Amino acid sequence: MKTIFSGIQPSGTLTLGNYLGAMKHFVELQNDNNCYFCIVDQHAITVPQDRLKLRENIRSLAALYLAVGIDPNKATLFIQSEVPAHAQLGWIMQCVSYIGELERMTQFKDKSAGKEAVSAALLTYPPLMAADILLYNTDIVPVGEDQKQHLELTRDLAERFNKKYNDIFTIPEVSIPKVGARIMSLTDPSKKMSKSNPNPKSYISMLDDEKVIIKKIKSAVTDSDGIIKYNKEEKPAVSNLMTIYSLCSGKTIEEIESLYDGKGYGEFKADLAAIVVDALRPIQERYNELLQSEELDNILDQGAEKANRVARKTLEKAERAMGLGRKRRK
Ligand code: TYM
Repeated sequence: MKTIFSGIQPSGTLTLGNYLGAMKHFVELQNDNNCYFCIVDQHAITVPQDRLKLRENIRSLAALYLAVGIDPNKATLFIQSEVPAHAQLGWIMQCVSYIGELERMTQFKDKSAGKEAVSAALLTYPPLMAADILLYNTDIVPVGEDQKQHLELTRDLAERFNKKYNDIFTIPEVSIPKVGARIMSLTDPSKKMSKSNPNPKSYISMLDDEKVIIKKIKSAVTDSDGIIKYNKEEKPAVSNLMTIYSLCSGKTIEEIESLYDGKGYGEFKADLAAIVVDALRPIQERYNELLQSEELDNILDQGAEKANRVARKTLEKAERAMGLGRKRRK
């Protein structure tokens, strides 16, 4: 049995990219593995957040995790800030990080570009992410492609710590899906689909209703040749839509190509919209029930308890290896 860890930021509605690149795989992994899924609220506050909105988003994300099929009897679901060992080990991981390597992170460069006030935490975000993962002796981290560089850094930091102090941390492997690792924007296929894009037409939210989904897919950019063929370099927009079609319907790209041979974008887009609506409908129904339930709080309480137990042990080992605090009394 392998240990799996992954996290999602509660920073607004989740997109179809979050679902197809990450969440969908979490559900498959929980059956045969020891899984931890985290709502990383401390990562979310690296950029300004409205207090009430953040609270709402945390609860909403917990309900979404369960609505997509995370089973609390199989996996541990918890909120990062309810497990203090994350911030504590995060500090230790900062102490083994170099400023140069943090400045080279593309996510830091993107998020800080052109901004006047950039929080120090935006720079030290990756060591906290490393702590999240390392606390649970994680073997595998399932994420979308945009997190690959952070995972490479996590491995470097763990190896560096182990070499310098003691062999405490398991070196985690990254797991990136073969298809759907980078779902692209509907309005610009050179950019990833992201909830932080100011144009809501560029992404499908997991909570968008039928009408909105149909409208967004209808207005998604394509190209002028009208042919439904997968070619990432020459037809990136159509290829992105085909990837979404394939992941939501279970049909292969070849099946989709032959299904729409000789047909136009209009018919393809109408079918794609119906498929996306069908994929999201049961999730949205469960989400709305869960959001109101007390069950959600019980699950998060139990998750925090289990996560605290495991995380505290790893933290203590790391602190001891570094010489922090006092020697234990007999
Ligand atoms: P976040 O919250 O931005 O995204 C959550 C997950 O969704 C994936 N994802 C995508 N996959 C495919 N196509 C897209 N357009 C797309 N957009 C997002 C992300 O790759 C991610 O897997 N730093 C992380 C959160 C985090 C974490 C961790 C993850 C904190 N600690 C420890 C793993 C392990 C983040 O900001 O993800």
